[in-house]
Parts: sequence; C-alpha cells; structure tokens
Amino acid sequence: MIDLNTQTQSWTDNYKLLVGTIVPRPIAFVSTVSAEGVRNLAAFSFFNGVCPKPFIVSFAPMRRMDGGKKDTVRNIEETGEFVINVVSEEMAKPMNSTSPTPEFDPDVDEWVVSGLTPEPSTLVTPSRVAESPVQMECKLVQVIDFGPAEAGAGSIVLGEVVRMHLREDVYQNGHVDPDLLRPIARMAGNDYARVTDRFQMARSKPEEWLK
Ligand SMILES: Cc1cc2nc3c(=O)[nH]c(=O)nc-3n(C[C@H](O)[C@H](O)[C@H](O)COP(=O)(O)O)c2cc1C
Repeated sequence: MIDLNTQTQSWTDNYKLLVGTIVPRPIAFVSTVSAEGVRNLAAFSFFNGVCPKPFIVSFAPMRRMDGGKKDTVRNIEETGEFVINVVSEEMAKPMNSTSPTPEFDPDVDEWVVSGLTPEPSTLVTPSRVAESPVQMECKLVQVIDFGPAEAGAGSIVLGEVVRMHLREDVYQNGHVDPDLLRPIARMAGNDYARVTDRFQMARSKPEEWLK
C-alpha cells in the first residue's frame, strides 16, 4: 500500500484524492439570488443527503482561489434560501456553462449564459431550473466553515428541503425512476458518469449471518 500523509502534503494533492476516490458524486445544481437581486446558478458535486426528518441535504463549496467565498455561499448566507436541481444528461452542457474555472464575476447571470429556463419556486425566491427533472426548494439550516479564508478551504451548507418538484413521468407510485431521471455524476478531471450499469442485492437479515 502507498501511505500518504494527508496532514503534511499540499491541499492540491489532497483535492486530487478527494475527487479521485469519492466517486461517482451526484451534482447539486444550485440556484440562488443575492440580497441585491442578482441571480446565480452553479454546480457542486460534494453533495449528499443527510436525513429525511427533518429533510436535510448538504453540499460543500470550496473557496475561490483568491480565498473569497463563492457567490452561491454568499447569496445563501445573505438570504437563507436556495434551490437544488438534479442534473439530467440533457442538461450537461448548459450546467457546465454556468460553472467555469476561474469563476464568473458575481454580476454575471448564469441563467442568461446557459439559456436554461427559470420556473418560479413556491416557498423560496430563487427560481427552479425548468429543464431539471427534480427540484428541491431549500431553507438554510447552517453553514459551517472549515479552515482559514484562503484557497483550499471550504464550507458545508446544510439546508432543509421544504418543497420538492418532480417531473410526472419520473415519479411513479412514490418512487423515482433512475432510467427517466438520467442523472449525471462527477468523477475526477473531465470525467462524468451515467448510472446505467446497476446490479440488484436485497438487504440482508441479521439471522442470515448469526447462525
Ligand atoms: C460538475 C461540477 C461540479 C462542481 N463541484 C464543485 C464542488 O463540489 N465544490 C466547489 O467548490 N466547486 C465545484 N464546482 C465548481 C463551481 O461550480 C464553480 O466554482 C462555480 O463557478 C461557482 O460559482 P459561484 O461563484 O457562482 O457560486 C463544480 C463545477 C462543476 C462543473
């Protein structure tokens, strides 16, 4: 085995380990609005569910190379609201257009850049992405910051999903159909994944193992 000292090696080497080993990662396509009313869309693949009661999700934006917080985090801290849109395969290119490196300046409206369609939300100000098959309206629970205000550091954003919108064909009998959701997932570098190669395995029972 190769042993790496993650406490002494560079953050860029740790970053490569993060994005190379935690794969595939779902993508939160996050819609926010600043206190001044500037709309923002950006993608975050450090995204996951936390619990259903209350219905909590998390995503983790890193700081910009200049050490500042990304527009998404600043907007959420200002307004306490955001929408997470699931990214289906059809949305891959417009999603990618919103999240270049280095980042757009804060006054850029990524809705215009991407050509995606804003759909008014029910309980929060940021719009939903009409092209997305599943949209989650979220209220901020907590932002936890890690590290100093410099590149490599980041935050975790915890939000409560207060409304969920699902395309009718995708949501049948209380279940989301992955073949119709067609989510894309993030790997390292320029790689993305589809979740089309699946296998089935029933949850085991304790007595199967404790004979
Ligand atoms: C598919 C994808 C996933 C991304 N995941 C993350 C992430 O998890 N954390 C992060 O800080 N940046 C991530 N980025 C980069 C941000 O989207 C990018 O910095 C964006 O411009 C930030 O926008 P904002 O400043 O408007 O919030 C990702 C980009 C793409 C295309």
